[in-house]
Amino acid sequence: MAVKAYDLTGRTAFVTGAASGIGRASALLLAEAGATVHCADRDARKLHETAALIKAAGGEAHAYELDVADKEQIDRAVAQAAAAATTGTGSGTDTGTGTGTGTGRLDIMAAIAGIMHSGPVLETREKDLDRVLDINFKGVLYACQAAARAMIEAGTGGSIITMASGAVDTGGPGLLCYGASKAAVVQLTKTLATEVGPHAIRVNAVAPGWIRTPMTERHDSQAQAHTEEVMTRMAPLGRVGEPDDIAHAVLHLAADASSFTTGQILRPNGGVAMPW
Ligand code: NAI
Repeated sequence: MAVKAYDLTGRTAFVTGAASGIGRASALLLAEAGATVHCADRDARKLHETAALIKAAGGEAHAYELDVADKEQIDRAVAQAAAAATTGTGSGTDTGTGTGTGTGRLDIMAAIAGIMHSGPVLETREKDLDRVLDINFKGVLYACQAAARAMIEAGTGGSIITMASGAVDTGGPGLLCYGASKAAVVQLTKTLATEVGPHAIRVNAVAPGWIRTPMTERHDSQAQAHTEEVMTRMAPLGRVGEPDDIAHAVLHLAADASSFTTGQILRPNGGVAMPW
C-alpha cells in the first residue's frame, strides 16, 4: 500500500543538476511519486535523457538547459515552471528562454547542481574559489530565491531542498573551496528556513556521504578506489552510497511526510559522521 504522505500527485517540482547522478535519481523518484518534474542542467544531452526516462516511465517532465550560476536564467525557468502548473501546460523541451509570468505554483525545489574541487589551501587561486562559489553557493541561492518567491506568491507553501555535503562534517585536505561552498549552503538553508517558515515553506539540506556518481568517478581511478575503501571502512553500514540513497532523502524532505521538519540537515552518509 502506498503511503499517502509520500504521494506527490499534482505537485510541481524543479530539480537542478537533473542530468546526472544524485539530481537525475531525485528527478526520477519525485516523478515516480507523482510530481511533474521540471529538470534543469547545463548538460543538454543528458538533461533530455533524464526527461525522456521520466516520460518513458509514465511521468511528466520538462527540460531547461541553463547555467545555475546565471541568475536570470534560473529566474526565468522557475517562473516558467510555476506558470505551467497554473495553466496546466508545459512546453516540454524548454531551453530556459521562454517567458514566465512569475505567478503560478511551485511545490518543490531541489537545488542539487554542483561541482567538485580539490586542492591544497596554499595553492588555491581566486579563480578556483570564485568558480566553485558561483556554482555551488550562488547557484543554490538563486534557485532558492526564485523558488521561495514563486511559493510566497502562490501562497501554497512548499519545500526547498539544498545539497550540502558530508565534507562540512568531516573536513579533510583539499576541501577548502568545495567545503566552504557547502558550509555556505548550510547557512543559507538555516537562514532561509527562519525567514520563510511563516509562509509554510520548509527549507532543509541533505549532506550526503561518499556517493558513486559521475562526479566521484571523475577522480582518477586509483584515488577513487582508495577513497571508497576508506569510506567503506569508516561507515558502520560498511558501504559507500548510491544516487538512490540520496534521492530517497530528497523525496522524504519534499513530501508531506516531513511536514514538521525545517532548517535541518539530513545526513545519508552510512554513519561516517554523527554530529549532534
Ligand atoms: P554529478 O556530476 O553526477 O552531477 C552534477 C550535475 O550538476 C551535472 O549534471 C552537471 O552538469 C550539473 N551542473 C554542474 N554545474 C552546473 C551549472 N553551472 N549549471 C547547471 N548544471 C550544472 O554529481 P553528483 O555526485 O550527482 O552531485 C550532485 C550534488 O551532490 C552536488 O551538489 C554535489 O556537491 C553533491 N554531493 C555529492 C556527493 C558525492 O559523493 N557524489 C557527496 C556530497 C554532496
